[in-house]
Amino acid sequence: MTERREFRWPHPLQGNSQEIWYGGDYNPEQWPEEIWDEDVALMRKAGVNLVSLGIFSWAKLQPSEDTWDFDWLDRIIEKLGTAGIAVDLASATASPPMWLTQAHPEVLWRDERGNVCWPGARQHWRATSPVFREYALALCTKMAEHYRDNPYIVAWHVNNEYGCHNRFDYSDDAMKAFQLWCKKRYGDIESVNAAWGTSFWSQQMGDFSQILPPRFIGEGNFMNPGKLLDFKRFSSDALQEFFRAERDTLERITPDIPLTTNFMVSAGNSMLDYDAWGKDVDFVSNDHYFVPGDQHLDELAYSSSLVDGIARKRPWFLMEHSTGAVNWRTINYRKEQGQLIRDSLVHLAMGANAICYFQWRQSSSGAEKFHTAMLPHAGEHSQDFREVCELGENLKVLSGAGVTSSTVVKSSVAVVYDYESEWASEHTATPTQQVRHWTEPLDWFRALADCGITADMVPIRADWDSYEAVVLPSVYLLDERNTKRVHDYVATGGKLFATYYTGIADGDDHIWLGGYPGSIRDVLGMRSEDFAPLGTDVSGVLDHLNLSNGAVAHDLADVITSVAGSAQVLAQYEAEEWTGMSGIPAITLNVYGEGLAAYVGCRLGREGLARTLPDLLSHMHITASGGSSSASVLRVERVDVNTQEHFVFLFNRTHQDVTVSREGTVLVSSRATVHEETSTATLKANGLLVMKY
Ligand code: GAL
Repeated sequence: MTERREFRWPHPLQGNSQEIWYGGDYNPEQWPEEIWDEDVALMRKAGVNLVSLGIFSWAKLQPSEDTWDFDWLDRIIEKLGTAGIAVDLASATASPPMWLTQAHPEVLWRDERGNVCWPGARQHWRATSPVFREYALALCTKMAEHYRDNPYIVAWHVNNEYGCHNRFDYSDDAMKAFQLWCKKRYGDIESVNAAWGTSFWSQQMGDFSQILPPRFIGEGNFMNPGKLLDFKRFSSDALQEFFRAERDTLERITPDIPLTTNFMVSAGNSMLDYDAWGKDVDFVSNDHYFVPGDQHLDELAYSSSLVDGIARKRPWFLMEHSTGAVNWRTINYRKEQGQLIRDSLVHLAMGANAICYFQWRQSSSGAEKFHTAMLPHAGEHSQDFREVCELGENLKVLSGAGVTSSTVVKSSVAVVYDYESEWASEHTATPTQQVRHWTEPLDWFRALADCGITADMVPIRADWDSYEAVVLPSVYLLDERNTKRVHDYVATGGKLFATYYTGIADGDDHIWLGGYPGSIRDVLGMRSEDFAPLGTDVSGVLDHLNLSNGAVAHDLADVITSVAGSAQVLAQYEAEEWTGMSGIPAITLNVYGEGLAAYVGCRLGREGLARTLPDLLSHMHITASGGSSSASVLRVERVDVNTQEHFVFLFNRTHQDVTVSREGTVLVSSRATVHEETSTATLKANGLLVMKY
């Protein structure tokens, strides 16, 4: 495994002090040059101090194979820089020009049926094409050589959202690269056969040349799960390898400019193993788009906490989010009153020292003309732009108060997220397709918040075993290393919560035998023999199970048939005899070594967990931390370890007014009224307070 790169953050422009970066993607090439001055003036008005440039500019920078045009980019960078606006410059490789794909159609990626992804949008390139690589690296070289001494470039923005549209490629280039990847991972073909269980359905391979990508096998058929999991690993690695090639090319020429690439961490997205990527960037950046409806705040907090975990609690960069509606959902809901400012400050609370948007000026043509932006179609005389300016003011206040030197305070509870468990649990031949890894961590994060605990989302490779308590939520794969970590953690006093569908298989997706959850049964002091899926697709089957504590299970329950003498049953199913589930333990608690291990053997969802957790937390001696912790408020704290200054962020989780206590000097408030006499404040829906003590 390669070492983690040293953390490097974009320096402020000469003469400026370090502030929260504020701005967004800027696409001046979409506009006549006459409006650039207005752009810069309005950016200054809004407090913008950084923009990302050139992300989709390849065709304009290199109009044909032998011609280059940097003049326009030089001119806008100069305008921005002299106005005090720094530039996060793209490698510009995200969207290859027509002349390239016309001359070299072999760079276009292919889907599982061999169909070509034609130009017409973006990311129509394959990561494993030697031809594409040559052109892309030539562009990186030109960019770096041209801008090596430019004082306004503070970071490299390498490519853009790798894998968003070209995650899987089934071309012959990809096939060859996949064969090499397998050779590197397994050494000989027999080990690949063993890992993929190829004795099943006569799939043995005699040679690496027989390894195919998981190409089309007919509707309703089932791909070998080992191959599929490895193809997901390979696809993430192939793009990462391409990223490294771009990064290293830029770095050779401009060693002093920190580099990043924008991830897409959100609760429902596991395209790439972002935790594995996190060690390869100088600073982590993320793009996050809100989920409309009642998950909005919680999903955002969950995702930004996961980014904080991927960044190992070093500052990270919010590269993109939206001021309002996006344009790529079926219905593109607006943000509610107050959410523009609130959303940005949640990211900041969770460790973002840069708040940027897609994009500065809303496009008037092209596929994203209905996507909101900092400067909307309506222009500067608009509610959105006024709020963008207000946010700029807020960020200045927070910068002045020293927030950029603080990091997010560690929670007492870690909720583990594992990209590979998500990938493996996505397979279509499982006990129920209603169950996958990702929904469970989100439910726990939300239910813990309902109990006044803001948990840390922690990737499985990170230090979850240093927390007071840990949740393993449907962590389907537990390899030997993580199995040992779980044993050591609890044996030495850790408090573990594990759920159904955890520890089912090893790192090759081979079932741990002897009863579930195979490799950590002893820690949990229970054993399940079967899965009891709960569904509504046919009548007459079990669709839910009532627990003796009042919670209700849906989707999946374990058939727990034995419980160790060291364990107690905290809740069981109340069901009719014919179901086979009556009296079966649903929630257990075991004493193992010096620690405690609770098992929640069914899917309870956020509501069921919120009902169950108060009792479970008290059995585990875990209390909510700090100040205004309550179900109605999300509380996040950052601390400057040198000065011991604390920044407390309180966000209203409800649509009703909530009253909170003041915890220090109020730095920023939005949709909040502070009552000086009582040292309290009332937060309206989407309201917030940032305080310092
Ligand atoms: C991102 C992308 C941006 C823009 C944005 C719209 O995926 O990086 O270029 O398309 O989405 O939400």
